[in-house]
Amino acid sequence: MKALILNASIYGHSGRYAEMIASALTDAGWDVHTLTTKGFTVETATTTLGGEPDLVVYAGGNYAGKLHDIKAFVNAAHAFTNARLVLLSVAWADPSRTEDVDKVHRANLPSDVYERTERFHARGGLAHSKVSFAHKAALTGVHAFMKATPASKRHANDQEMLDTWGTDTDFVKRDNIEPLLKALLG
Ligand SMILES: Cc1cc2nc3c(=O)[nH]c(=O)nc-3n(C[C@H](O)[C@H](O)[C@H](O)COP(=O)(O)O)c2cc1C
Repeated sequence: MKALILNASIYGHSGRYAEMIASALTDAGWDVHTLTTKGFTVETATTTLGGEPDLVVYAGGNYAGKLHDIKAFVNAAHAFTNARLVLLSVAWADPSRTEDVDKVHRANLPSDVYERTERFHARGGLAHSKVSFAHKAALTGVHAFMKATPASKRHANDQEMLDTWGTDTDFVKRDNIEPLLKALLG
């Protein structure tokens, strides 16, 4: 069985989850190929895999509501109509914020792909020391917005972001993707 893992990570959080998924599938006997989403084409994937995948897994970060390079996953979903589809969004947001998570998934996937996709979410982190100039500017806006919300009305998850502002945080751990691994491997 062939698996295509699409790694859309910018700062490495979802990339590490992609590696964990690839390694778990490989251990279970799958023929696994991981491709980065940058420059992804269906043709390259088909050539690399030597045929169509039975499974396509996307792992990528949420950037202001947009799942990075989600187009690669959507293109793969439309090309590989018989493949099982699994999406892992990775973000600061805690997975307990299920409504917010589902909203992001819905907003990023066309309805036909949304319906076919098994969806999961895991916490990543925030690499303040590594972010690009553009991302730093965007984060400054997020910080101002959160600060403008009265402390009593802030979600604990947002307060945590303010409390750790300027330091690198990393919540990536295998436990966070156990539900996904269980769905794939039982
Ligand atoms: C510019 C910027 C915008 C972000 N926007 C959100 C957001 O809207 N919601 C959220 O929960 N996390 C947000 N994050 C946090 C990222 O989703 C988090 O850092 C994630 O781990 C990135 O994954 P990656 O390193 O694999 O790309 C943002 C991070 C940056 C740098």
